[in-house]
Amino acid sequence: MTEPQTARPSPGHALVTGGAGFIGSHLIDGLLADGWAVTNVDNFDPYYAESTKRLNIAAHLDHPNYRLLQVDLRDAAALHGALDQPHAAAHAGAYSVIVHLAAKAGVRNSLLDPLGYQMSNVIGTQNLLTYAHNHKIRQFIFASSSSVYGDCPRLPWSETDLDLLPINPYASTKLAGEQLGYVYSRTFGLRFIGLRFFTVYGERQRPDLAIHKFSRLMLAGKPIPVYGDGSSERDFTYWDEIVSGIRAAMAYSASDYEIFNLGNNRTIGLLDTIRKLEEVLDVKARIDWQDWQPGEMRRTWANIDKTQRLLGYQVKTDFDTGLRRFAVWLQERLRLESRKTA
Ligand SMILES: NC(=O)c1ccc[n+]([C@@H]2O[C@H](COP(=O)([O-])OP(=O)(O)OC[C@H]3O[C@@H](n4cnc5c(N)ncnc54)[C@H](O)[C@@H]3O)[C@@H](O)[C@H]2O)c1
Repeated sequence: MTEPQTARPSPGHALVTGGAGFIGSHLIDGLLADGWAVTNVDNFDPYYAESTKRLNIAAHLDHPNYRLLQVDLRDAAALHGALDQPHAAAHAGAYSVIVHLAAKAGVRNSLLDPLGYQMSNVIGTQNLLTYAHNHKIRQFIFASSSSVYGDCPRLPWSETDLDLLPINPYASTKLAGEQLGYVYSRTFGLRFIGLRFFTVYGERQRPDLAIHKFSRLMLAGKPIPVYGDGSSERDFTYWDEIVSGIRAAMAYSASDYEIFNLGNNRTIGLLDTIRKLEEVLDVKARIDWQDWQPGEMRRTWANIDKTQRLLGYQVKTDFDTGLRRFAVWLQERLRLESRKTA
């Protein structure tokens, strides 16, 4: 077996977009701990509460190696102007890598606002690639999604599957991002690594995602909406595996364009997920059965052979453990929220 080509680079200056969000804030925790200088570009998109994102980054704000640029990726002039300003940290220097996580996320909402998704996810990505090219920033990591597979018939999905058939506007913007990355790699010499995340969960999870949304409703004694017959399945991935995959991709140098699945290679049914939530939250769920939603995927399932081989990726956290950690975090977050409103 070939050894993964991912020796950890010495800390440099990472430009992270979407660093106030769920995954980005966890990534930045680790980068700062390891001595990186970090510039976080985030516009606090109103898809979910700004106060939640402010809590995610509270511990970063006073760190001398951290700066927050509150700019919108859609505005090329504002973005490029802000990025041109030097970071105050003495050793920061030029950006050594871009980790592009910012996006309008959420499948269902993309059906209501397809243009908004195109603007943030495609035009925003284009604006960032232009900046990377103009400033010769060599390494560009892109948060793609399992949703690009859409109706792809072979399971578990593999990066060699080329019949990608997205079925919602969000997914099509992620596929467009991967394709733009190919252009910049093939034609302009950028190293572009697209990472297809499979339903990420754990502490700080976005409030629109099923585990978080259901948990809040269950704890409030309210019914949870289940679409269709409840037979859908997800390949859930704990956030720490995603962050490890991003860190490995930041160090990857064996080729100039790659796509990797970051998943778990194990699916869990929706009704089983609800049962497990009942256990960790110690509360019974009441189900509000609803019609199947257009644009939703029935099943997601990752083949992770390539990611294991080339990035040294390993799944370390089983679903029950990850869910328990999420439940502990949520109880604490609810206590914090109730103190604020009291
Ligand atoms: N969480 C998942 O299960 C999952 C699965 C697949 C892919 N992804 C992708 O991973 C990335 C991170 O996801 P997340 O769950 O942390 O989402 P998140 O919404 O918590 O974080 C995204 C961040 O991007 C920012 N943002 C949005 N539009 C912006 C714009 N125009 N300019 C600047 N900032 C902007 C938001 O304010 C937010 O803080 C996203 O690209 C998402 O599509 C996530």
